[in-house]
Amino acid sequence: MEKDKERVITNKETGGDQALDLTLRPKILEEYIGQEKVKENLRIAIEAARKRGEPIEHVLLYGAPGLGKTTLAHILANELGTNIRITSGPAIEKSGDLAAILTNLAEGDILFIDEIHRLNKTIEEILYPAMEDYALDIIIGKGPSARTLRIDLPRFTIIGATTKMSLLSAPLRDRFGMVYHLNYYEHDDIERIVNRSARILSIGIDDLSAREIARRSRRTPRVANRLLKRTRDYCDVRGNGTINPEHCRDAFEMLDVDELGLDWIDRKILELIIDKFKGGPVGLNTIAAATGEDMATVEDVYEPYLMQLGFLDRSPRGRLATDLAYEHLGKQKNKNQQNTLV
Ligand SMILES: Nc1ncnc2c1ncn2[C@@H]1O[C@H](COP(=O)(O)OP(=O)(O)OP(=O)(O)O)[C@@H](O)[C@H]1O
Ligand SMILES: [Mg+2]
Repeated sequence: MEKDKERVITNKETGGDQALDLTLRPKILEEYIGQEKVKENLRIAIEAARKRGEPIEHVLLYGAPGLGKTTLAHILANELGTNIRITSGPAIEKSGDLAAILTNLAEGDILFIDEIHRLNKTIEEILYPAMEDYALDIIIGKGPSARTLRIDLPRFTIIGATTKMSLLSAPLRDRFGMVYHLNYYEHDDIERIVNRSARILSIGIDDLSAREIARRSRRTPRVANRLLKRTRDYCDVRGNGTINPEHCRDAFEMLDVDELGLDWIDRKILELIIDKFKGGPVGLNTIAAATGEDMATVEDVYEPYLMQLGFLDRSPRGRLATDLAYEHLGKQKNKNQQNTLV
């Protein structure tokens, strides 16, 4: 079944990524490619914190999966020479869990909270004084005799990461001194990432092939590393040491990834809108049903890149395929097709 086919270009972390991530993850800011503005700001913050001998302000990183949020958190800890504790929004279930984590931190430590938009409300409220005043308020007793006990915490830094800024509450967002958006990477930067990874993994690759892989990587480092690895497998099987454009072509054909990094699900979405619905608008639920995915996955995983390419528009009445999408799929637009944004 098509549905069972592995999606090599997904930006979500898959089982095979973890070992690869460990070897390929840049350890210092200098090695982190692209995102120049974010790096520049962080460099200054690190320098200032070092000079003052104080922890850096709380940092919020947001951006699509696989763009380097976790990597950046580790780099910050490394550059500051501090410990990093790692947790995530859904992992902190009870207020006691958070209290235990916070009271075990040492001065200057970094607490990395991944998927911070998934923290529950009660936990979030405990975090406010912790972030603002380095204090933990514990309620002792019940009813009229209840009282609050305030425990001082060491000065620490929270690094929050989220793929969904819109789901983060305003009070929580406001407590971060620095908020950075990681953008999709420029093609040149992805090419540099491919070359860097090839060097680390001792993979021979020619320039043209590095560019080919970069083009198909959906402007996402995680996808670039995965495509490099899959192309290398292809090259190994052929028993020839260096990845060349021929290996790339065969590997991408086998993986069903086209020259813009679209795979069969992306094309299926566009074809559905164009062939069955004359270009749209088509409701999200219809797209979800046709691809066998849930609506959230279509919206968060598939649509962003199609919109980024300018192939898909969202309108209040549904999704529309753009002229560029027709062009990419080699489809003719019918004159009386309705395809206007409303
Ligand atoms: N700027 C970069 N330079 C070089 N490699 C990078 C860069 N950013 C990310 N990578 C590579 O991409 C991989 C994925 O990055 P990372 O795990 O930090 O993404 P993420 O934003 O935390 O994703 P998620 O939202 O899924 O948690 C890293 O292991 C690293 O190898
Ligand atoms: Mg991450």
